[in-house]
Amino acid sequence: MESLKEKTVFITGASSGIGKSCAYAFGKAGANLIISARRKNLIDEIADDIRKKFGVKVYAYKLDITKRDDVINSIKTLPVEFKNIDILINNAGLARGLSKFYEDNPDSWEEMIDTNVKGLLYATHAVLPIMLERKSGHIINIGSIAGREAYPKGAIYCATKHAVDAITRSLRMDTIDKNILVSTIDAGLVETNFSKVRFHGDEEKAKSIYKGLTPLTGDDIADAVLYCATRPSHVNIAEITLLAARQASATVVHREN
Ligand SMILES: NC(=O)c1ccc[n+]([C@@H]2O[C@H](COP(=O)([O-])OP(=O)(O)OC[C@H]3O[C@@H](n4cnc5c(N)ncnc54)[C@H](OP(=O)(O)O)[C@@H]3O)[C@@H](O)[C@H]2O)c1
Repeated sequence: MESLKEKTVFITGASSGIGKSCAYAFGKAGANLIISARRKNLIDEIADDIRKKFGVKVYAYKLDITKRDDVINSIKTLPVEFKNIDILINNAGLARGLSKFYEDNPDSWEEMIDTNVKGLLYATHAVLPIMLERKSGHIINIGSIAGREAYPKGAIYCATKHAVDAITRSLRMDTIDKNILVSTIDAGLVETNFSKVRFHGDEEKAKSIYKGLTPLTGDDIADAVLYCATRPSHVNIAEITLLAARQASATVVHREN
């Protein structure tokens, strides 16, 4: 297992769910962290707690991943001790709505495409020069089972995660001679704020998604991300797909009453 001590890990969307779990998992493993999200109060609290608990360095800053100039400038102006990013975890993302394509609000398409696809591209493009210069790096994308299968009422979310899958595979080819690894972690049902965001804050609707089964947790996904990041240097985990034990596919879920 490769040590993460003295490594610098940049996690986008670290204020909640999978990103927050990754921050704790990598902090516990001894990595120094850069964490970002739009809700600065939350990442500040997380940063303080991780510093206290694990004694690692944490730089937390407010970033809307859809703002290209902000992404680029924030990477260019990182404090000197955080400049050498070893691992980028492209996690910031969301689904908005669950409705038939012809009933969708196009505003939600823009939000998903801007965040899940363009945001991931901005962060990756901003961080890659650092990795290319240092001839070392690992990019871990948080994809989804929605990037492997399409499901009804999810055309645009599925399209964005299919895009993440394609970007992951192409980028792996583009960086194969540069000692830069590219991986994707694709999960099924994970109970985070994801469904609350998808249903615009409707808690009941969000809960119904996980009814009758035990969903995955953010910590389950962070565990897989950590595994991926700590293999010996001759190993690249191309992809990991994780499902809840009672989930067979995006559409086949066994629920107990
Ligand atoms: N939950 C699932 O079932 C599931 C399954 C497979 C894949 N995923 C993927 O996992 C990733 C994390 O989702 P989650 O389940 O952990 O949901 P979550 O709890 O809602 O967390 C989403 C994170 O993304 C951040 N984010 C959203 N829009 C952003 C923006 N414009 N700029 C910066 N950060 C932004 C949020 O921070 P702020 O709101 O503070 O900006 C938050 O920290 C997403 O890419 C999602 O597609 C989730």
